[in-house]
Amino acid sequence: MASVPDLKDWRFSIDEQGIAWAIFDREAQSQNALGRRPLEELGAIVTAVAAGAQDKSVRGFAILSGKEKGFIVGADVREFEQFKTATEVEAAIAPVLGMLDAIESLPIPVVCGIHGFCLGGGLELALACHWRIATRDDATRLGFPEVRLGIFPGFNGTARAIRQSGALAAMPIMLSGSMVRASAARGMGLVDELVDSPLQLPWAARKAIERKRRSKPAGGWKTLLRLWPLRSPVANRMRGETAKKVREAHYPAPFRLIDLFERHGGDLKRMKLEETKVFAPLMVSDTSRNLRRVFHLMEMLKAQAPKDIAFKPMRVHVIGAGVMGADIAGWCVASGMEVSLQDLSAEQIAKGIAAQEKVFKRKFRTKAQRDAAKARFIADAAGDNIGRADVVIEAIVEKLEVKQNLFKGLEPKLKPGAILATNTSSLMIEDIAAPLADPGRLVGIHFFNPVAQMPLVEVIRGASSREDEVRKACAFAAALDKLPLIVKSCPGFLVNRVLAPYMMSAMQRLEKGEKAERIDEAARVFGMPMGPIELADTVGLDVCAHVGKILKLPAEGSKLAQMVADGKLGKKSGQGFYAWKNDKPVKEPVTADKAALEALGRELVAPLVEECERCRDESVVESADLVDAGVIFGTGFAPFRGGPLHYLQNLGRAALHAADAPKA
Ligand code: NAI
Repeated sequence: MASVPDLKDWRFSIDEQGIAWAIFDREAQSQNALGRRPLEELGAIVTAVAAGAQDKSVRGFAILSGKEKGFIVGADVREFEQFKTATEVEAAIAPVLGMLDAIESLPIPVVCGIHGFCLGGGLELALACHWRIATRDDATRLGFPEVRLGIFPGFNGTARAIRQSGALAAMPIMLSGSMVRASAARGMGLVDELVDSPLQLPWAARKAIERKRRSKPAGGWKTLLRLWPLRSPVANRMRGETAKKVREAHYPAPFRLIDLFERHGGDLKRMKLEETKVFAPLMVSDTSRNLRRVFHLMEMLKAQAPKDIAFKPMRVHVIGAGVMGADIAGWCVASGMEVSLQDLSAEQIAKGIAAQEKVFKRKFRTKAQRDAAKARFIADAAGDNIGRADVVIEAIVEKLEVKQNLFKGLEPKLKPGAILATNTSSLMIEDIAAPLADPGRLVGIHFFNPVAQMPLVEVIRGASSREDEVRKACAFAAALDKLPLIVKSCPGFLVNRVLAPYMMSAMQRLEKGEKAERIDEAARVFGMPMGPIELADTVGLDVCAHVGKILKLPAEGSKLAQMVADGKLGKKSGQGFYAWKNDKPVKEPVTADKAALEALGRELVAPLVEECERCRDESVVESADLVDAGVIFGTGFAPFRGGPLHYLQNLGRAALHAADAPKA
């Protein structure tokens, strides 16, 4: 049998029964990602197993993870940057495809045991095995997140997923990048067997090998789509569905995957060969590079939360059960914390708690889990729980004296070491903290509306805030699965500050006679999730006017001020720049040509980009990259452009306002 060289990322052994065990446990990493070295080592292992199968010393092969947390999170995204051309990508992929084929064609049973995340390249490896066993707990998730990076599965996962699940089940998970639980994956045929705990995986793998288990490909009607005449209408429907979510010009990967399926989905061998040809150019495209940049920026934000502190937020007390306070409290409960909620009246608290039902429904599958969540949610009109809380966060009216008085009363009741925070969106932290005996204790934790959906939380470092408190606040945000961004205390912080001139200048265009629909469509053509006028209506025109005032933007005497005075506040009042019906703005169709909309889109974002430059120059956050990170995750700024400052760098300063600037 061939020998296996020294392994760093895998443990390999052959037991007395002749079963070869490959345990993936990447050196010095908390998670397993399939980088070059682990793939090469696996290649050596597979060669040894093949030799053992040949001389009958090995009669089964099991692949497992040595990490407590999960199986494989995907390919190692950090290594993608080395590829400059599609040819280089093809050359790097070829040996991996060969190895996966070698695994698949081993003459002995090959079993894979999955717990935790099994994503992207990890799932593609699993699909090359003969039998897949997964733990059925909530932590186990399978999926192909590649489209989020501007690519699709490139280790022949496209053809193998279709083979196992049929195109109607496999294509949507590849097109959406969403994850499925183990039980759903079993229903789809991606997984063959479920066990209760990771501890059972080796035993179940051994049994599957003894029984020579082999997964059956999807059969019956699921293979109907291999027929050409049926594939085209289905592919067209998929194109239509995908186009509702993303534009092909911005996010080509899902559309190329549909093309691949339409052309070659009838012959999976051919599809495997063609996959690389379509995949490689995507990998070196600007979209994929920029989306990878967004991935790195997200990692950078996660790194704002310290890993080395003992602080563990278990109990949270929220004061103010209005729009923000109730949702912040609900999200803390959904994240497993025990939460007490305070307001001036018991009715307001009850209303705030009741409003969280929809978050719990989305977050928890079983009634028992939802009941447990509700049991962690305490109405506390008198503030009895303040002294027990690890985090006390205020979300009451935006008035300096009211907040100051509240905090003065709170300070003596706090538990030592507890975070004291305000969710203010416009007041200076140091001003709120001024009357405190220990002003260094107060930090801003600025959530965005709607709390459950917005990934970013700005952690505001007031002029007086102690560094320790800022670090704890970041740890708290991370415990809520939010991305923390440390921001200097300054008017508008980062996100509102850059949004304000963008929205105000859009409103000025409106006043000069540009149509709201055309402005919003132009912003969407640029890649914004929502146009600035619809955004203003959604946020509330009173809130916009208030933020405008804080930032000293010219609004007085404007249409905005008049509309607020008339009670036209946008979505919440049913009338703003648009009339709102069933929570949707009533819009007229836009007839402008594409080039004109593209030019207008660039003009619209210019004030935002310029404000980002000022934020960078004033060190509102630590670096230019963090400006981009904050603006992408706080506003949804066109992710495929890699962030406003990155966009500016690609475009060139001189072209920012030029309507005929080249497309960046
Ligand atoms: P809201 O008006 O919906 O809720 C405020 C709540 O605080 C009310 O239920 C009120 O009864 C209660 N309250 C007032 N004084 C109180 C006191 N002394 N003790 C206990 N409860 C008291 O306001 P909203 O929109 O939730 O804003 C709250 C805070 O969050 C403000 O500081 C605001 O600037 C900030 N914020 C608001 C955002 C938004 O989109 N609405 C976004 C981010 C921050």
